[in-house]
Amino acid sequence: MAAISIRNVSKSFGLTPVLRGLDLEVADGEFVSFLGPSGCGKSTLLFCIAGLEDLTAGTIHLGERDMGHIPPRDRNIALVFQDYALYPHMRVRENIAFPLHQQNLPAETVQKQVAWAAELLGLEALLDRSPAELSGGQRQRVAVGRAIVRNPAALLMDEPLSNLDASLRVRMRTEIKRLQKELGLTVIFVTHDQEEAMVLSDRIAVMNAGVLQQFADPMTVYREPANQFVASFIGSPQMNFLPGTMAGGALDDTKTLGVRPHDLVPTRRAPNDALTIQGTLSLIEPAGPVTFLDVTLADGTLIKATCADPRTYRPGETLTLAAPRANVCVFDTASGVRTGALAPPSDDSLVGHTSDEAMAHGI
Ligand SMILES: Nc1ncnc2c1ncn2[C@@H]1O[C@H](COP(=O)(O)OP(=O)(O)OP(=O)(O)O)[C@@H](O)[C@H]1O
Ligand SMILES: [Mg+2]
Repeated sequence: MAAISIRNVSKSFGLTPVLRGLDLEVADGEFVSFLGPSGCGKSTLLFCIAGLEDLTAGTIHLGERDMGHIPPRDRNIALVFQDYALYPHMRVRENIAFPLHQQNLPAETVQKQVAWAAELLGLEALLDRSPAELSGGQRQRVAVGRAIVRNPAALLMDEPLSNLDASLRVRMRTEIKRLQKELGLTVIFVTHDQEEAMVLSDRIAVMNAGVLQQFADPMTVYREPANQFVASFIGSPQMNFLPGTMAGGALDDTKTLGVRPHDLVPTRRAPNDALTIQGTLSLIEPAGPVTFLDVTLADGTLIKATCADPRTYRPGETLTLAAPRANVCVFDTASGVRTGALAPPSDDSLVGHTSDEAMAHGI
């Protein structure tokens, strides 16, 4: 395994820039996700690392080695694509063995490595089947087996789970993470699913329009987003954005507040250290562990809040919502850059009491 250094990488197709001066240092044994909306350049950057696309500017190193003039097959990097790209006429055994045969390794080594990968991925009983005789999840595992069988220096995966149904996706992502930790693999994982990126990654590189927005661990990206783009891309439902004037006179509209629905809960008496907002409950969406509440503010703005149990609330009633000030992001309205969290209230405004619901949410 090896570290990957991406330095000042730009890529244009013709005159259209797709990657703009990206810098990323992926550590040896690290799991990094490239996360961003469709068309932001995730796959292009992955293909640049694999050598399937040339760089317009910048360098990519694998360990100490500059990959500049190294052809894809000599980079010792394995790629898993979204559609798995298994050979339909080959059995599972031959699919997994394929990269080893290309290296002309002795039959005994091939057999040993295939047995190792098959055992790791629970594919022993399927080795003599053809890909057509496998489920989506099994095909995905064969594709991973084929990628890791030759001990690559890095494993690159481009949306490998997007063809699977929801429950299988959750199972497979756990398997991928366990495998990565067990083998100490350096993995770059492309996804546009923010939850998948959060769950899997040591660090997430959030991209937009070919520009790196933030590169940090999942909870930092969630709690301290670099800007409003990152804040709105991470977390579901999306963060609420409100004018700075709603901070009780502490800020003006050159600032924008960002409040996550999960931090915003109904309260009977505003807790001391909270931002409070009043509105009318318009819709209740129970989702099991939490319920989402659509709340309409006086100016017509619709925001989302949450509660643990909605059974005492009725649409049309007025709610006071509270969020811990430390969890409220403050953004510069003009640039969208996060400037910090909402400061605690001054001492003389500490008058409220902590409600049960707010206590339950730790505020
Ligand atoms: N060979 C190409 N020639 C011209 N433009 C291309 C080429 N490949 C990709 N692009 C453009 O580059 C941009 C980035 O594409 P890329 O495939 O990297 O996006 P992505 O982030 O992987 O998106 P998705 O989530 O949809 O897979 C897109 O606007 C795309 O149209
Ligand atoms: Mg892509």
